[in-house]
Amino acid sequence: MGIEGLNAPSLRLILDRAHAHADDIQTGSVEPTLAGRFICSLFLEDSTRTRLSFETAARRLGAEIIRFDASTSSLSKGESLLDTAQTLIAGGAECLVMRHASSGAPAHLNAGLVRTGHAVPIVNAGDGMHEHPTQALLDVYTLERRLGTVEGKTVAIIGDINRSRVARSLTIALGTLGAHVRHVGPRAFVREGLGVPVFNDPIEGTRGADAVCFLRIQTERTGRAAYLPNTAFRALYSGSREGLIPENAIIMHPGPVNRGVELDAKTLEDPRCVVLDQVANGVPVRMAVLERALLDEWGEA
Ligand code: CP
Repeated sequence: MGIEGLNAPSLRLILDRAHAHADDIQTGSVEPTLAGRFICSLFLEDSTRTRLSFETAARRLGAEIIRFDASTSSLSKGESLLDTAQTLIAGGAECLVMRHASSGAPAHLNAGLVRTGHAVPIVNAGDGMHEHPTQALLDVYTLERRLGTVEGKTVAIIGDINRSRVARSLTIALGTLGAHVRHVGPRAFVREGLGVPVFNDPIEGTRGADAVCFLRIQTERTGRAAYLPNTAFRALYSGSREGLIPENAIIMHPGPVNRGVELDAKTLEDPRCVVLDQVANGVPVRMAVLERALLDEWGEA
Protein backbone atom coordinates (compact mmCIF):
# COMPACT_ATOMS: atom_id res chain seq x y z
CA MET A 1 0.00 0.00 0.00
CA GLY A 2 2.96 2.32 0.49
CA ILE A 3 6.70 2.87 0.47
CA GLU A 4 6.48 2.96 4.25
CA GLY A 5 7.11 -0.60 5.34
CA LEU A 6 9.32 -1.51 2.38
CA ASN A 7 12.92 -2.05 3.45
CA ALA A 8 15.98 -1.37 1.31
CA PRO A 9 16.23 -4.94 -0.12
CA SER A 10 12.53 -4.83 -1.15
CA LEU A 11 13.00 -1.46 -2.86
CA ARG A 12 16.18 -2.75 -4.50
CA LEU A 13 14.36 -5.79 -5.88
CA ILE A 14 11.70 -3.59 -7.55
CA LEU A 15 14.26 -1.11 -8.88
CA ASP A 16 16.56 -3.82 -10.26
CA ARG A 17 13.64 -5.48 -11.98
CA ALA A 18 12.64 -2.09 -13.45
CA HIS A 19 16.17 -1.57 -14.77
CA ALA A 20 16.00 -5.03 -16.41
CA HIS A 21 12.60 -4.24 -17.94
CA ALA A 22 13.93 -0.97 -19.37
CA ASP A 23 16.73 -2.89 -21.08
CA ASP A 24 14.20 -5.40 -22.44
CA ILE A 25 11.98 -2.60 -23.74
CA GLN A 26 15.01 -1.16 -25.58
CA THR A 27 15.82 -4.50 -27.21
CA GLY A 28 12.20 -5.49 -27.82
CA SER A 29 12.60 -8.60 -25.67
CA VAL A 30 10.06 -8.09 -22.89
CA GLU A 31 8.76 -11.43 -21.59
CA PRO A 32 4.95 -11.54 -21.30
CA THR A 33 5.10 -12.63 -17.68
CA LEU A 34 1.51 -11.51 -17.03
CA ALA A 35 -0.04 -13.04 -20.16
CA GLY A 36 -3.63 -14.04 -19.47
CA ARG A 37 -3.84 -12.02 -16.25
CA PHE A 38 -6.64 -9.48 -15.78
CA ILE A 39 -6.03 -6.12 -14.08
CA CYS A 40 -8.56 -3.37 -13.47
CA SER A 41 -7.53 0.30 -13.17
CA LEU A 42 -9.81 1.93 -10.63
CA PHE A 43 -9.02 5.64 -10.76
CA LEU A 44 -11.43 7.66 -8.67
CA GLU A 45 -9.32 10.80 -8.96
CA ASP A 46 -7.99 12.31 -12.19
CA SER A 47 -4.69 11.18 -13.65
CA THR A 48 -2.78 11.34 -16.91
CA ARG A 49 0.69 9.92 -16.26
CA THR A 50 0.00 7.26 -13.66
CA ARG A 51 -3.00 5.72 -15.36
CA LEU A 52 -1.34 5.78 -18.78
CA SER A 53 1.85 4.16 -17.57
CA PHE A 54 0.10 1.47 -15.52
CA GLU A 55 -1.94 0.61 -18.60
CA THR A 56 1.16 0.58 -20.80
CA ALA A 57 3.07 -1.49 -18.24
CA ALA A 58 0.28 -4.06 -18.00
CA ARG A 59 0.04 -4.39 -21.78
CA ARG A 60 3.81 -4.67 -22.19
CA LEU A 61 3.69 -7.69 -19.87
CA GLY A 62 0.83 -9.27 -21.81
CA ALA A 63 -1.90 -8.60 -19.23
CA GLU A 64 -5.42 -7.48 -20.00
CA ILE A 65 -6.18 -4.15 -18.32
CA ILE A 66 -9.68 -2.75 -18.14
CA ARG A 67 -10.28 0.87 -17.27
CA PHE A 68 -13.12 1.35 -14.76
CA ASP A 69 -14.89 4.58 -15.65
CA ALA A 70 -16.18 6.04 -12.39
CA SER A 71 -18.16 8.80 -14.13
CA THR A 72 -20.44 6.32 -15.94
CA SER A 73 -20.50 3.66 -13.22
CA SER A 74 -23.08 2.68 -10.65
CA LEU A 75 -21.09 4.58 -8.01
CA SER A 76 -23.30 7.48 -9.14
CA LYS A 77 -26.36 5.42 -8.08
CA GLY A 78 -24.97 5.00 -4.58
CA GLU A 79 -23.12 1.70 -4.94
CA SER A 80 -20.33 1.50 -2.38
CA LEU A 81 -16.68 1.25 -3.27
CA LEU A 82 -16.53 -2.18 -1.61
CA ASP A 83 -19.47 -3.46 -3.67
CA THR A 84 -17.94 -1.92 -6.79
CA ALA A 85 -14.61 -3.64 -6.16
CA GLN A 86 -16.30 -6.95 -5.41
CA THR A 87 -18.19 -6.61 -8.70
CA LEU A 88 -14.95 -6.02 -10.61
CA ILE A 89 -13.35 -9.01 -8.91
CA ALA A 90 -16.40 -11.20 -9.59
CA GLY A 91 -15.97 -10.17 -13.23
CA GLY A 92 -12.45 -11.55 -13.20
CA ALA A 93 -10.14 -8.75 -12.01
CA GLU A 94 -7.10 -10.28 -10.29
CA CYS A 95 -5.54 -6.98 -9.26
CA LEU A 96 -6.86 -3.45 -8.75
CA VAL A 97 -4.71 -0.40 -9.49
CA MET A 98 -6.39 2.24 -7.40
CA ARG A 99 -6.20 6.01 -7.10
CA HIS A 100 -8.41 7.83 -4.64
CA ALA A 101 -8.62 11.36 -3.25
CA SER A 102 -8.85 10.07 0.33
CA SER A 103 -5.78 9.07 2.31
CA GLY A 104 -5.98 5.42 3.30
CA ALA A 105 -8.70 4.46 0.78
CA PRO A 106 -6.76 1.49 -0.71
CA ALA A 107 -6.00 0.11 2.77
CA HIS A 108 -9.64 0.59 3.78
CA LEU A 109 -10.88 -1.18 0.65
CA ASN A 110 -8.36 -3.98 1.17
CA ALA A 111 -9.62 -4.50 4.72
CA GLY A 112 -13.18 -4.76 3.40
CA LEU A 113 -12.19 -7.25 0.71
CA VAL A 114 -10.23 -9.38 3.19
CA ARG A 115 -13.17 -9.34 5.61
CA THR A 116 -15.58 -10.49 2.90
CA GLY A 117 -13.20 -13.09 1.50
CA HIS A 118 -12.61 -11.43 -1.88
CA ALA A 119 -9.12 -9.98 -1.49
CA VAL A 120 -6.95 -9.36 -4.54
CA PRO A 121 -3.76 -7.28 -4.61
CA ILE A 122 -4.46 -3.54 -4.60
CA VAL A 123 -1.71 -1.36 -6.05
CA ASN A 124 -1.77 2.15 -4.63
CA ALA A 125 -1.67 4.67 -7.50
CA GLY A 126 -1.92 7.62 -5.10
CA ASP A 127 -4.19 8.11 -2.09
CA GLY A 128 -5.00 11.61 -0.91
CA MET A 129 -2.13 13.24 0.93
CA HIS A 130 -0.81 9.88 2.12
CA GLU A 131 1.38 8.10 -0.45
CA HIS A 132 2.20 7.83 -4.14
CA PRO A 133 4.50 4.81 -3.98
CA THR A 134 5.09 4.20 -7.68
CA GLN A 135 5.90 7.88 -8.24
CA ALA A 136 8.59 7.62 -5.55
CA LEU A 137 9.95 4.45 -7.13
CA LEU A 138 10.14 6.01 -10.59
CA ASP A 139 11.75 9.13 -9.15
CA VAL A 140 14.43 7.05 -7.43
CA TYR A 141 14.83 5.02 -10.61
CA THR A 142 15.27 8.23 -12.64
CA LEU A 143 17.91 9.46 -10.19
CA GLU A 144 19.73 6.13 -10.45
CA ARG A 145 19.72 6.37 -14.25
CA ARG A 146 21.35 9.79 -14.04
CA LEU A 147 23.54 9.48 -10.94
CA GLY A 148 24.27 5.74 -10.75
CA THR A 149 23.03 5.59 -7.16
CA VAL A 150 21.05 7.70 -4.72
CA GLU A 151 23.13 6.63 -1.74
CA GLY A 152 24.93 9.66 -0.32
CA LYS A 153 23.27 12.04 -2.80
CA THR A 154 21.35 15.13 -1.74
CA VAL A 155 17.83 15.70 -3.05
CA ALA A 156 16.01 18.95 -2.29
CA ILE A 157 12.22 18.67 -2.54
CA ILE A 158 10.75 22.14 -2.96
CA GLY A 159 7.19 23.46 -2.85
CA ASP A 160 3.89 22.37 -1.33
CA ILE A 161 5.31 19.50 0.72
CA ASN A 162 2.70 19.34 3.49
CA ARG A 163 -0.06 18.34 1.09
CA SER A 164 2.09 16.17 -1.17
CA ARG A 165 1.84 12.38 -1.23
CA VAL A 166 4.74 12.43 -3.68
CA ALA A 167 6.98 14.22 -1.18
CA ARG A 168 6.02 11.82 1.58
CA SER A 169 6.71 8.64 -0.44
CA LEU A 170 9.87 10.03 -2.04
CA THR A 171 11.27 11.19 1.30
CA ILE A 172 10.77 7.72 2.77
CA ALA A 173 12.20 5.90 -0.26
CA LEU A 174 15.29 8.10 -0.53
CA GLY A 175 15.92 7.90 3.19
CA THR A 176 15.65 4.10 3.13
CA LEU A 177 18.21 3.97 0.31
CA GLY A 178 20.70 6.26 2.04
CA ALA A 179 20.12 9.61 0.32
CA HIS A 180 20.02 12.98 2.09
CA VAL A 181 16.63 14.66 1.68
CA ARG A 182 15.82 18.31 2.34
CA HIS A 183 12.39 19.91 2.41
CA VAL A 184 12.30 23.44 1.07
CA GLY A 185 9.39 25.86 0.99
CA PRO A 186 7.54 28.71 2.65
CA ARG A 187 6.38 28.13 6.24
CA ALA A 188 2.85 27.25 5.13
CA PHE A 189 4.14 24.44 2.89
CA VAL A 190 6.72 22.69 5.04
CA ARG A 191 6.92 21.47 8.60
CA GLU A 192 9.48 20.09 11.01
CA GLY A 193 9.19 16.60 12.45
CA LEU A 194 9.48 14.46 9.31
CA GLY A 195 13.08 13.52 10.05
CA VAL A 196 14.66 15.69 7.37
CA PRO A 197 16.08 19.20 7.48
CA VAL A 198 13.63 21.95 6.58
CA PHE A 199 14.61 25.17 4.80
CA ASN A 200 12.48 28.25 4.28
CA ASP A 201 15.29 29.95 2.40
CA PRO A 202 15.22 28.30 -1.05
CA ILE A 203 18.77 29.23 -2.05
CA GLU A 204 20.14 27.75 1.14
CA GLY A 205 17.87 24.70 0.79
CA THR A 206 19.00 23.75 -2.70
CA ARG A 207 22.69 24.68 -2.28
CA GLY A 208 24.92 21.79 -3.37
CA ALA A 209 21.97 19.47 -4.11
CA ASP A 210 22.42 16.73 -6.71
CA ALA A 211 18.75 17.02 -7.66
CA VAL A 212 15.95 19.49 -7.07
CA CYS A 213 12.42 18.09 -7.18
CA PHE A 214 9.75 20.77 -7.67
CA LEU A 215 6.16 20.22 -6.54
CA ARG A 216 2.89 21.72 -7.67
CA ILE A 217 0.76 23.82 -5.33
CA GLN A 218 -2.08 21.38 -4.63
CA THR A 219 -5.14 23.46 -3.88
CA GLU A 220 -7.38 20.51 -4.82
CA ARG A 221 -6.26 18.59 -1.73
CA THR A 222 -7.92 20.94 0.74
CA GLY A 223 -10.21 23.02 -1.41
CA ARG A 224 -8.55 26.13 -0.01
CA ALA A 225 -6.93 28.78 -2.11
CA ALA A 226 -3.16 28.84 -2.36
CA TYR A 227 -1.44 30.06 0.79
CA LEU A 228 0.53 32.54 -1.19
CA PRO A 229 -0.09 33.98 -4.65
CA ASN A 230 1.49 32.19 -7.61
CA THR A 231 3.48 35.32 -8.43
CA ALA A 232 5.07 35.35 -4.96
CA PHE A 233 5.76 31.61 -5.10
CA ARG A 234 7.34 31.95 -8.55
CA ALA A 235 9.61 34.80 -7.47
CA LEU A 236 10.96 32.86 -4.49
CA TYR A 237 10.61 29.09 -4.95
CA SER A 238 10.38 28.35 -8.69
CA GLY A 239 13.04 27.07 -11.04
CA SER A 240 13.07 30.49 -12.72
CA ARG A 241 14.68 32.10 -9.69
CA GLU A 242 18.28 32.97 -10.46
CA GLY A 243 20.70 30.77 -8.50
CA LEU A 244 18.07 28.40 -7.11
CA ILE A 245 19.05 25.33 -9.16
CA PRO A 246 22.69 24.34 -8.62
CA GLU A 247 24.70 24.20 -11.84
CA ASN A 248 24.96 20.41 -12.06
CA ALA A 249 21.67 19.48 -10.40
CA ILE A 250 19.00 17.36 -12.04
CA ILE A 251 15.65 19.12 -12.31
CA MET A 252 12.63 16.96 -11.45
CA HIS A 253 8.87 17.38 -11.17
CA PRO A 254 6.31 14.55 -10.82
CA GLY A 255 3.78 16.43 -12.96
CA PRO A 256 1.38 17.82 -13.74
CA VAL A 257 3.38 21.05 -13.93
CA ASN A 258 1.73 24.42 -13.54
CA ARG A 259 3.77 26.06 -16.29
CA GLY A 260 4.98 29.46 -15.26
CA VAL A 261 4.47 28.78 -11.56
CA GLU A 262 6.92 26.16 -10.26
CA LEU A 263 8.69 25.66 -13.62
CA ASP A 264 8.72 27.82 -16.75
CA ALA A 265 9.19 26.75 -20.38
CA LYS A 266 12.91 27.58 -20.32
CA THR A 267 13.54 25.35 -17.30
CA LEU A 268 11.40 22.54 -18.74
CA GLU A 269 13.58 22.62 -21.88
CA ASP A 270 16.83 22.72 -19.90
CA PRO A 271 19.00 19.63 -20.60
CA ARG A 272 19.17 19.02 -16.84
CA CYS A 273 15.37 18.64 -16.69
CA VAL A 274 14.18 15.02 -16.54
CA VAL A 275 10.41 15.55 -16.30
CA LEU A 276 9.66 13.48 -19.41
CA ASP A 277 12.26 10.86 -18.43
CA GLN A 278 10.29 10.48 -15.20
CA VAL A 279 7.15 9.79 -17.24
CA ALA A 280 8.93 7.27 -19.47
CA ASN A 281 10.54 5.56 -16.47
CA GLY A 282 7.11 5.02 -14.95
CA VAL A 283 6.54 2.16 -17.38
CA PRO A 284 9.37 -0.23 -16.40
CA VAL A 285 8.88 0.65 -12.74
CA ARG A 286 5.17 -0.14 -12.89
CA MET A 287 5.90 -3.34 -14.83
CA ALA A 288 7.97 -4.45 -11.84
CA VAL A 289 5.27 -3.37 -9.40
CA LEU A 290 2.52 -5.26 -11.27
CA GLU A 291 4.68 -8.39 -11.37
CA ARG A 292 5.32 -8.05 -7.65
CA ALA A 293 1.56 -7.87 -7.08
CA LEU A 294 0.62 -10.77 -9.31
CA LEU A 295 3.48 -13.26 -9.47
CA ASP A 296 4.07 -15.53 -6.48
CA GLU A 297 7.59 -16.35 -7.67
CA TRP A 298 8.35 -12.69 -8.48
CA GLY A 299 11.21 -12.37 -5.97
CA GLU A 300 13.14 -15.00 -7.92
CA ALA A 301 12.29 -13.63 -11.37
N1 CP B 1 2.53 12.39 -11.15
C1 CP B 1 1.24 12.01 -11.24
O1 CP B 1 0.71 11.26 -10.41
O2 CP B 1 0.60 12.49 -12.33
P1 CP B 1 -0.91 12.15 -12.73
O3 CP B 1 -1.79 12.77 -11.68
O4 CP B 1 -1.09 12.75 -14.10
O5 CP B 1 -1.06 10.65 -12.73
